[in-house]
Amino acid sequence: MSSPPALPLGEQLQADPEFNAALDQAATIVRSYANRIDGIRPPLAGRTIDYQRAVDEFGQIRGGRLFFPFIGSGLGRGPFVELGDGSVKLDFINGIGALPFGHSHPEITAAALRAAATNAVMHGNLQQNAAGVEFSRKLLAMANARHPVFDHCFISSTGVMAGENMLKIAFQARQPAHRVLAFEGCFAGRTLAFSQITDKAAFRVGLPQTLEVDYVPFFDAEDPAGSTERAVVVLRRHLTRYPQQHAAFIYELVQGEGGFYPGTKAFFTTLMTICREHGVLNLGDEVQTFARTPQPFAFQYFELEDLIDGLWIGKSSQACATLFKSAHQPKPGLLSQTFTASAVALAAGERILDLLQDGGYFGTDGIIARRAAEFHRGLQAIHEKHPSWLRGPYGVGAMTAFTPFAGQPAQAQAVVRALYDHGVMTFVAGADPMRVRFLWPVGVTESSHIELALGILENVLSSLAPEHTKSA
Ligand SMILES: Cc1ncc(COP(=O)(O)O)c(C=O)c1O
Repeated sequence: MSSPPALPLGEQLQADPEFNAALDQAATIVRSYANRIDGIRPPLAGRTIDYQRAVDEFGQIRGGRLFFPFIGSGLGRGPFVELGDGSVKLDFINGIGALPFGHSHPEITAAALRAAATNAVMHGNLQQNAAGVEFSRKLLAMANARHPVFDHCFISSTGVMAGENMLKIAFQARQPAHRVLAFEGCFAGRTLAFSQITDKAAFRVGLPQTLEVDYVPFFDAEDPAGSTERAVVVLRRHLTRYPQQHAAFIYELVQGEGGFYPGTKAFFTTLMTICREHGVLNLGDEVQTFARTPQPFAFQYFELEDLIDGLWIGKSSQACATLFKSAHQPKPGLLSQTFTASAVALAAGERILDLLQDGGYFGTDGIIARRAAEFHRGLQAIHEKHPSWLRGPYGVGAMTAFTPFAGQPAQAQAVVRALYDHGVMTFVAGADPMRVRFLWPVGVTESSHIELALGILENVLSSLAPEHTKSA
């Protein structure tokens, strides 16, 4: 048997100069290719037919066609992404908000390359390396930066799984309460439990009812006092009708899929205070809002530190997570996962947390607030020139939206598809009206990218206007 090493071999590998030189070289090569991407580009000659075939085949294999004919080449640069046909798009939707630093970011690529060389492709229950500890520690520090709020962080593979874990913790802590409160128009995910919370009938067609959910109307910016009063009346009615049966209220503090509707501090404080008085846990679904409002977490932006009891995040953080308090500590056996997240996701997530923390993104004069203001001014200018083309802007921070024409679904979808054809990736949100949304990557969006998107948008709206404003 060889003599024991002075340090664990895994640590020695990470410090090995040859290993580090090889990683640096790989990262440099990736960067040299990425740097050749410098803007929106049409498909390469001769690639269109094979590419379309691959898109069709993928749709066929997965049992439903892709929303966009999009298969990435695996490379991009900042907000630009290259597709398998060699075309390049300005990606202002990022897999619905999952890439806060855009594509092929040098530091995230370097972290991912290093992580890819570790033995655990996926981390989980009996297979945890140091990356999970680091990620959890940093996330908790970010959440507790202004006031100590949470004691624990449990990592999961998806946003909805992080939500399921939180809800199980809440039910166990508040047993035998078994009902849930949520906002009208909310989106929470698509598991059997969470498709009952998501307020969209189409997403639960044919599914059994797994959960009893009582809905409360959301904040209405046109009628702050009236909408708060209505929400209080409905909340109290539910609490009276089903005494002590509600374990939790799930708050999507800025409604995402619902159409980019933010609430306010006063609105949430009013409802959360009533819930607190009734022993109902206040839980934040921050899967879409994390790292998008002018504070890292939306509960911090709305200053709800004293009233929030638990939350979960996903998307921007790569690895998803549930943050909770010791008072609600789950009993052994309630939570466990073969796979929590991949080593690469944890390393990329940790790097993203560092970049967010140190990059001047947050605060009233932070990058998120400033870029959002620029985007809003640009949309407002289009509205002033052509009031019938768009209404808005809407949303907060790096969640930016507008209503095209009359907000009919066919109109919003036509705008999103035309934008895609002209090189800008966006997506729809909400139903009545249906809006067009941008989840722009906070870490790499410059003023010039916003101007580029707005210029293309104006052209697209101009070309669609004759068809969609006939009756206006
Ligand atoms: C607010 C919100 N909650 C939960 C989810 C579900 O996350 P995931 O798709 O990672 O399971 C989403 C996804 O869009 C979301 O926007």
